[in-house]
Amino acid sequence: MPTIRPITPADYAPCARICFEAFGSLQDRHGVERDFDSVETAGMVIGLFGSDTAFAGFVALGDDGRTILGSNFIGFADQVAGVGPITVDPSAQSRGVGRMLMQAVLNEAARRGVPQVRLQQEAINTSSLSLYTRLGFDWREACVLLRPAPAERDLEGARPVTERDLPVIDGLSRRHYHAPRVNEVAGFLKIGLPGFILSRGRRDVGYFFPSFLGHGFAESPEDLAALASHTVRHAPPQFHKTIVPLGQHELHRALMSRGGRAIKLFNYMTTGPYREPVSAWIPSIGM
Ligand SMILES: CC(C)(COP(=O)(O)OP(=O)(O)OC[C@H]1O[C@@H](n2cnc3c(N)ncnc32)[C@H](O)[C@@H]1OP(=O)(O)O)[C@@H](O)C(=O)NCCC(=O)NCCS
Repeated sequence: MPTIRPITPADYAPCARICFEAFGSLQDRHGVERDFDSVETAGMVIGLFGSDTAFAGFVALGDDGRTILGSNFIGFADQVAGVGPITVDPSAQSRGVGRMLMQAVLNEAARRGVPQVRLQQEAINTSSLSLYTRLGFDWREACVLLRPAPAERDLEGARPVTERDLPVIDGLSRRHYHAPRVNEVAGFLKIGLPGFILSRGRRDVGYFFPSFLGHGFAESPEDLAALASHTVRHAPPQFHKTIVPLGQHELHRALMSRGGRAIKLFNYMTTGPYREPVSAWIPSIGM
């Protein structure tokens, strides 16, 4: 019978290999671009989430109590928690290990009194779709992972997000998302994820961080699309990704008309209280 325990630094290397192989084998089978191009890239994410006190990470161990079968993470930086990445060794899948790892992060959320938990479900994986639904997650949105094209020139009124902007980020996230995301953004600044904030006159009307980790809000779809194109103009190529809910037709079209390319689909799923974000919004891989 597999067992679950919190992740430790000694687990990062085997978890990175499993993460790389689990996503790689699934994505190759479906002809979808890989999320992780190497074990090292997977290791960076596992190491980042494993060592960040805003996250809780768990590993599943085999019958011998030593062999690692998979891992899962949940982020608690702010009021809403985000799950992932969850991966199980391809040789150990479909035997209930994924369910135990999901139950572990949901138990941790309950223990901390955090009822709102969200995730992006890899749409090609019917197994995780079924598992999350059984565990109480509701489907909210189909999303496209999109590679925005860099803008040809700078966007007027856009400036890099700095620590001084955190109170504005707090206000914008509360207004658009109905919950603060300021601690998450403070974490982006610490790891050097480049983000931009947009002002119109004296008002700050939106912000955006790229990549799987990032998210964004703005008062209009045009502003959010323009911010995303401006941001990737200033960000290294590995950050040129963003997740767009397809229910936001105008935002999707605005990014496509700026040269954005679709990569694959996700399902945005939530458990606990949920109010749909307002105006133009971009979720992260976790929430
Ligand atoms: C997602 C993943 C972690 C699941 O791990 P796993 O150990 O295979 O999952 P489990 O065996 O615990 O659970 C699979 C569940 O899906 C169900 N299932 C699988 N295929 C199904 C289908 N086509 N229809 C209905 N149910 C299905 C199983 O019955 C089981 O549900 P149950 O526990 O209620 O019986 C694993 O597939 C993985 O690592 N995938 C690659 C990475 C990935 O896609 N991560 C998730 C991103 S959203």
